[in-house]
Amino acid sequence: MEGPRIAARQAAVKDAEALAAVHAACFSAPWDAELLKIFLEARDSLCVLSTEGETVTGFLLTRIAADEAEILTLAVAPETRRQGIARTLLEAAVDGLKQRGAKHLFLEVDEKNVAALGLYRGLGAKPVGRRPAYYADGGDAAILRLTLDERLAEDGPTR
Ligand SMILES: CC(C)(COP(=O)(O)OP(=O)(O)OC[C@H]1O[C@@H](n2cnc3c(N)ncnc32)[C@H](O)[C@@H]1OP(=O)(O)O)[C@@H](O)C(=O)NCCC(=O)NCCS
Repeated sequence: MEGPRIAARQAAVKDAEALAAVHAACFSAPWDAELLKIFLEARDSLCVLSTEGETVTGFLLTRIAADEAEILTLAVAPETRRQGIARTLLEAAVDGLKQRGAKHLFLEVDEKNVAALGLYRGLGAKPVGRRPAYYADGGDAAILRLTLDERLAEDGPTR
């Protein structure tokens, strides 16, 4: 059964504090508002956020170079997880990235991050490499690639 529609929109510089709060709730080395502002002001980045009422529940920050894009960070507030927010953010970002000419989206993910791997694979991302000992705890990163021409939808490639 379909849940309520999740509101997603492009993030602006004025959202930096709210994004920093979500990031801090998700990562042990959070990015502060000043750093996020730099990304939000950059011409080569695209950031979408989700809201529930006035509250920001998650965001996805990407960067574009020619026809390739990469995910810089993705965070969904712990209390709002598993409602389809990350999937909605990715779908919204993909629309924007395609409009800006991107054909592939690359992402690095901790091989132990079951949630993120499930999300990306569910949307059709394929493994294309790995970075050994990439994380502070010595863990490896998987590099995945999502081809943006393929349909990204609830009944998409591997779902
Ligand atoms: C990864 C993260 C962004 C997922 O956000 P989310 O809004 O809960 O994800 P969604 O509800 O959109 O889930 C979409 C799909 O991802 C997969 N998934 C999400 N969370 C999962 C979990 N805990 N375990 C297994 N699969 C999971 C499922 O396939 C899910 O589809 P389903 O609910 O229909 O089964 C969130 O857990 C998070 O912010 N984690 C901490 C930060 C992080 O790891 N960011 C990614 C770095 S690469």
